[in-house]
Amino acid sequence: MAKTLSFTCTSCGAGYGKWSGRCDACGAWNTIAEEKPLAAPSSGRSLGMKRGAKVPLMDLATPEDPPERTRSRVDELDRVLGGGLVPASATLVGGDPGIGKSTLLLQAAAAFARRGLDVIYISGEEATAQVRMRAQRLGLADANVKLASDTNLRDILTTVEAENPALVVIDSIQTMWLDTVDSAPGSVAQVRAAAHELVSFAKRKGISVVLVGHVTKEGQIAGPRVVEHMVDTVLYFEGERGHQFRILRAVKNRFGPADEIGVFEMTGAGLAQVGNPSALFLSDRGEPVPGAAVFAGIEGTRPVLCEMQALVAPSPLGQPRRSVVGWDSGRLGMVLAVLEARCGIPFTGLDVYLNVAGGLRVSEPAADLAVAAALLSAREDTALPPHTVVFGEISLSSALRPVAQTENRLKEARKLGFSNAILPAGSKTGVSADMAVKELADLTAFVGDVFGA
Ligand code: TYD
Ligand code: MG
Repeated sequence: MAKTLSFTCTSCGAGYGKWSGRCDACGAWNTIAEEKPLAAPSSGRSLGMKRGAKVPLMDLATPEDPPERTRSRVDELDRVLGGGLVPASATLVGGDPGIGKSTLLLQAAAAFARRGLDVIYISGEEATAQVRMRAQRLGLADANVKLASDTNLRDILTTVEAENPALVVIDSIQTMWLDTVDSAPGSVAQVRAAAHELVSFAKRKGISVVLVGHVTKEGQIAGPRVVEHMVDTVLYFEGERGHQFRILRAVKNRFGPADEIGVFEMTGAGLAQVGNPSALFLSDRGEPVPGAAVFAGIEGTRPVLCEMQALVAPSPLGQPRRSVVGWDSGRLGMVLAVLEARCGIPFTGLDVYLNVAGGLRVSEPAADLAVAAALLSAREDTALPPHTVVFGEISLSSALRPVAQTENRLKEARKLGFSNAILPAGSKTGVSADMAVKELADLTAFVGDVFGA
């Protein structure tokens, strides 16, 4: 038998035989804590099966229908869920404290209740009176959501079993505790056991559960990553504190596409959907300025335009700064290296700052060319041509590679008033694009063409 691991990273859940200052698995510092082993396994009955009961995979009399989903009619939420809430599913909604998880879930609970679902919202952080006050302020007082304030999971499961709702929201998993587990609420052992109990209860009873999980930087309490693998769907609610936008991002979904995003705006009356995120991300754009390039991206299944902003300045440091917000720093290093080695444009002695405007996080390689355009534009202090979108992948040889969904990207750009596009040669632009499209085969051609260098 494997040696029991008694130290666990509170951020990612990796197990260790001894304490150390840094988690090798996720790289976080000071997150490893001692964990008491679980008492006897809480119950052998999970997933609605008797021990040893088996169902042949192929011999089902009727093929199972796809699960019937309930739409909240909050489109931004339904899309991220993969088309609505799946019965008996377990969903985790993670995010920084104060980002708006409770607000989102209260609004979602009300929306599902209005669609006829029986919903219980259980808060371990606020008293029912507080939740009710918030609901009133959000204009949800009429929705038929049952509220409870409790942290003892045994009591909660008893109540839920008696009520037999369609959906239970647990806010938050870190406040829940089981009396069979001998450690403090919020510890890895408690969070893991509580989530396991809730998820298997949900599957057994055919009830959907949504767990709220705080992302913790300090490692005092276990983060949502500890339970990610137990649930069907993992959503992260992100945003910059200073910004009004909030992005709900699916990072795992057994019932739909991952990488899907829903965009919301935090207003005085709660979260409002943003139906056209491109317009929002580009809203404060004026005349073209040096260092800015508009990237026509795809987030999940939907085209989203955003602005890549770069600043290049002489560096007083021996090792110049490379600072990135909203994009991958390794990828920035690669684009800089290609510009330097293949196009003969050095960035030595220059600080480089890159920012994706609006708090969006872009992960597509298709953004390479837009980043290169922003960097060059900043370095040359020359604005890109107006009304232009840019996208394409850059290979290490500096060749530009076509990317998926070119036509959708162009359509979205067209819709928002862009009339020019710069993209890799060989892209399938389709017939609908009545835009001036400049197809380039290589980054060196881009440098020559756009900046005349
Ligand atoms: P909350 O949902 O409590 O965050 P979490 O559950 O993720 O910790 O949201 C708290 C923040 O949202 C708080 O700073 C105030 C802001 N907020 C609004 O701006 N408008 C509103 O209508 C509500 C309810 C909250
Ligand atoms: Mg909260």
